[in-house]
Amino acid sequence: MREHSNAPGYPLTAGTALLQERIKKWAIEKLGATGDFDVLPLIGSKEFVAWLPTLLKVKSVIFPEVAYPTYNVGAILAGAIGSPVGVSPSTWPTSELAWINSPSNPTGRTHSKSEMTDVIEWSRRNASILVSDECYFEFAHSSTPHSILECTQGDNTNILAVHSLSKRSSMAGYRAAFVIGDRKLIARIREVRKHAGMMVSLPVQEAMISALSDSNHVANQRARYNLRREKLIPALERVGFTIEESGAGLYIWCTRNESDWESVDWLAQLGILATPGNFYGEKGARNIRIALTATDKAIDEAVSRLSSAEFPKVRK
Ligand SMILES: Cc1ncc(COP(=O)(O)O)c(C=O)c1O
Repeated sequence: MREHSNAPGYPLTAGTALLQERIKKWAIEKLGATGDFDVLPLIGSKEFVAWLPTLLKVKSVIFPEVAYPTYNVGAILAGAIGSPVGVSPSTWPTSELAWINSPSNPTGRTHSKSEMTDVIEWSRRNASILVSDECYFEFAHSSTPHSILECTQGDNTNILAVHSLSKRSSMAGYRAAFVIGDRKLIARIREVRKHAGMMVSLPVQEAMISALSDSNHVANQRARYNLRREKLIPALERVGFTIEESGAGLYIWCTRNESDWESVDWLAQLGILATPGNFYGEKGARNIRIALTATDKAIDEAVSRLSSAEFPKVRK
């Protein structure tokens, strides 16, 4: 990034040839992408989630019933109908665009290959756009994430996968992400983004090339997150929490069979900050989300406070 910081000209919306090549190589080697596909850099993945329905002028959007709130924000910004849905597409309404998120924020659940195939079939049957948000892909613990691109059997029509270096390479402050998939769809998105000024700065594009060319830092970070997870899980179980899902990603999703706010309040009294599950949809209202992104020191401190905490006696 430093070497390319003298960048007075406009950067390419499409990304430099080398960046495109690196993303394609990574998609084939890491995700198992097959067939014809294109790639496009993004200014972080949040802007893409928030603006895709508007850029594509879709009027109906579906997203997981316990999910990152920006899928719904995107539907609202586009003036589209947004519908939360369960995992199985057998119950999904027809919709122009569907989001899936595996590994999930907040639950850490991953889609199996057969669940991926089911959603691809749904997309083909309805001629709907299917976007798989895979930004936590590299953070596996007890379950193995699969990319949608591994399951299309080379036909990527109407299929997109979104990845972010915010999580993979701890580059949230750089704003660096990318989308991979259907060539025609990406051409359409690229054209609009070109005219809307949505381009990634050249120094950041160069930093993306460096990040994608190395996987050691990702393995180190994954080990760090998983160690924090392994310390926190028994400490949370000791004070009555049941861990649900949480096989991958950056969060522990748990419940103590009480309202999320009661759990959040109890932890707050120990000086531990957790997120109430209802932030991610009504179905999350009895769960809390614990992030593994605090420092090792803070995690150790939380574990020590949980280990000496008095187990709550009154439960609702
Ligand atoms: C599921 C999901 N998608 C997308 C994002 C956006 O990340 P970024 O804009 O940093 O790429 C987040 C951030 O927390 C997320 O949890």
